[in-house]
Amino acid sequence: MSASAPAPRRGAPITDIASLRADFPGLHQQVRGKPLAYLDNAASSQCPVPVLDAMLRQQKMNHANVHRGVHELSSRATDAYEGARERIRAYINAASGTEIVYTRGTTESINLVASSLGGSLLGAGDEVLVTEMEHHSNIVPWQLVCERTGARLVPAPITERGELDVDAFERLLTERTRIVAVGHVSNALGTINPLRELIDKAHAAGAVVLVDGAQAMPHMRVDVRALDCDFYAFSGHKMYAPTGIGVLYGRETLLDRMPPYQGGGEMILTVSFDRSVWNSLPYKFEAGTPNVTGAVALGAAVDYLGGIDFDAVTEHERALLDYASERLLELDGARIIGTARHKAGVLSFVLGSIHAHDLGTIVDREGVAIRTGHHCAMPVMERFGVPATARASFALYNSREDVDRLAAGLRKALEIFA
Ligand SMILES: Cc1ncc(COP(=O)(O)O)c(C=O)c1O
Repeated sequence: MSASAPAPRRGAPITDIASLRADFPGLHQQVRGKPLAYLDNAASSQCPVPVLDAMLRQQKMNHANVHRGVHELSSRATDAYEGARERIRAYINAASGTEIVYTRGTTESINLVASSLGGSLLGAGDEVLVTEMEHHSNIVPWQLVCERTGARLVPAPITERGELDVDAFERLLTERTRIVAVGHVSNALGTINPLRELIDKAHAAGAVVLVDGAQAMPHMRVDVRALDCDFYAFSGHKMYAPTGIGVLYGRETLLDRMPPYQGGGEMILTVSFDRSVWNSLPYKFEAGTPNVTGAVALGAAVDYLGGIDFDAVTEHERALLDYASERLLELDGARIIGTARHKAGVLSFVLGSIHAHDLGTIVDREGVAIRTGHHCAMPVMERFGVPATARASFALYNSREDVDRLAAGLRKALEIFA
């Protein structure tokens, strides 16, 4: 399959899981002598063949530095790198390629905005509003810049179901709020936030809005202009591309005013010992040799996703989540953490007094991969009074059989700890 060709499944409902799974070689292996049931997609999802092919081709035949060489390989690498940027732009409906900054992932994207925009916009008495359900990546970079500038980090509370308390969020939005940083989908709870409503409220209060989209990109089609967000951060490895590549979408008018985040090659037009002149967007924020192969792979991943009917993905993942929730609640002592009305395919839970790590280890022996721990969301754990949860998270290639395997593994854990 060609790297740039869309997958031949445009608009098709996800009824034929077997043929879809055939695209993902990582799923077809034995783990601990059992067929793998991969349910750790919120951490990293598997890559489909077109993405793997694109990486191999780039690395094998087009490996050269970008923007620098006059030779054929460099020009091929540059075309592939910039071509991917354009396809990512189109995929999220950004107005221009100047608004697509390649980064290492969501964490780096948020650090870039916190450091560059936060560092120049915030002052003593100003506030950055986040929510209690944020990943550490959308808390700690803001803490760092608040420490530097004298601004204050304010968390908006969440309810017992794990939904944002929108009234409290609105009350906390004041003339002191300069930046709102909010997750689109919670990795620890699965909650889908009412993003457009939050963005409108934040803008009405005069704040700039950054969205942590790490967990939304694999589950839904995101349109940054329809959302009207100022920044949208995401990672390749959660949306069927490899690790080490991600994107910061930023509104051009804001990116233009922001100082560079890192200095080095690529991000300058001229350098002298007196002063340097920054490059145009998006290169002002892309210092050093970039992850060319990662960018090409992310381009291939959006091509792949562009060939899939996202209504069908949503329906499929919703059905899996419902089925998994039912199967889980059949077990003694099962408690789901995060019961929001709008949820993506994330099921966080505890099972009696069995520690989440023990659950993870026992089901791993059955070939079932889940995540256990605080999921880089310690404030969420604190809010629900648990040290850790087990988390099964679904991708478009998961099946009811994967869920049955998880349920069987959890029954084993109950027997062992009985
Ligand atoms: C909601 C959320 N935000 C941010 C991140 C950080 O992403 P990365 O480690 O790819 O930078 C994650 C990763 O789990 C996440 O789930």
